[in-house]
Amino acid sequence: MGTTPEHPAVAKGLDDVYVKESKICLVDGLKGRLIYVGYDIRDLAEHSSFDETCFLLWHFRLPRRDELETVRRAIAEERKLPEEIYALLKDLPKSTVPIDALRTAVSALSAYDPDLADDSKDANLRKALRVTAKVGTIVAAFERIRQGKKPVPPDPERGHAEDFLRMVTGKAPDPLDTKILDVALIMHADHSLNASTFAATVAASTLADLYSAVVAGIAALKGPLHGGANEQALKVLLKIGSPANAEAYVEKALARKEKLPGFGHRVYKNFDPRALILREYARKLSERQGDMNLFDTATAVQDVMLRELQEKRIYPNVDFYSGVTYYLMGLPPEVFTPVFAVSRVGGWTAHVIEYWQSNRILRPLDLYIGPMEATYVPVDRR
Ligand code: CMC
Repeated sequence: MGTTPEHPAVAKGLDDVYVKESKICLVDGLKGRLIYVGYDIRDLAEHSSFDETCFLLWHFRLPRRDELETVRRAIAEERKLPEEIYALLKDLPKSTVPIDALRTAVSALSAYDPDLADDSKDANLRKALRVTAKVGTIVAAFERIRQGKKPVPPDPERGHAEDFLRMVTGKAPDPLDTKILDVALIMHADHSLNASTFAATVAASTLADLYSAVVAGIAALKGPLHGGANEQALKVLLKIGSPANAEAYVEKALARKEKLPGFGHRVYKNFDPRALILREYARKLSERQGDMNLFDTATAVQDVMLRELQEKRIYPNVDFYSGVTYYLMGLPPEVFTPVFAVSRVGGWTAHVIEYWQSNRILRPLDLYIGPMEATYVPVDRR
């Protein structure tokens, strides 16, 4: 690939290309660190909550006690959905993939937001909070509908993670499950300019509204190279079945040049700190169940991958252990990627609102390599 005016270098995949400045999130891929607005993800995972983390991403500082109570209360109150959204979810074929149902419902939701056309920063922050609050309710409602059950309405007296699990299962969740989901939501809330945040930012850069940006984010999150990897990673582990089968499975997959879901990352060339935290929670959940088979299978796969791909610096990513963790919490695999969105919507909205402070339309180039000077031939003479 040359760098002449006729043949400029093509940044395929946009590795190492910076397209904006941000004060929201740093992924230090070499050290394996993740920072939100200066705070290490390990501290936030231990001490924060999803509501507080969203405030941090939206306002670039931790809330005071009264502000924390206000944002917690506002998210709780805003979890309710218009009846029309329940009706729309019920009208979708039961076979609809849950992430597609979420994308469709969020798109429809924009029609019910009184601030849709108001592009002031305050209105955008209000919309960010509303859509962030409602994504979990949509995911839970469609999961119930898919299973032929009645959706469970939100309860504003409960925390966001607790209420989500209750709306999915219909039962008050175990405190350990609530804690783990809250930590998972904190850790998935942002990850700098990942593919879905980039997609959301591209949509926003045209001055489309916040909901359009979130819909673009969900669309990009769906793919198995991004948020779809958690479901795929779990399915591979279930297929492998036991630690004894791990080595042969991985060796064969690598020989076929397959990429194992849940491994590798464009930025991390070290352990993903989120994977390390979720791995410990997966261990706890396995111990609670008195069945270490899935956890041990994951460990065996990780060991072979680390050994075989040491030179390529391939490590387990967050999706490898979120898949295991959510499965051990009893969540159905089809809901794993939507759960990613329940959290990442906080980051998408934060980035978009930040980008609008100094907006410029994102418009890169593609290098045209097609024919020139073609002569148009009428259709009956081709
Ligand atoms: N299994 C086996 N080999 C891999 C894997 C993997 N999961 N990931 C990368 N490699 C190899 C790849 O084959 C390549 O080898 P070579 O140089 O010999 O061709 C080398 O490592 C570099 O990989 P790449 O595909 O050029 O890396 P990328 O930055 O373009 O892609 C990725 C990153 C995450 C899309 C990729 O690692 C992948 O497909 N992983 C599996 C899907 C996955 O887990 N996605 C979730 C990403 S993290 C959280 C999220 O965004 O949701």
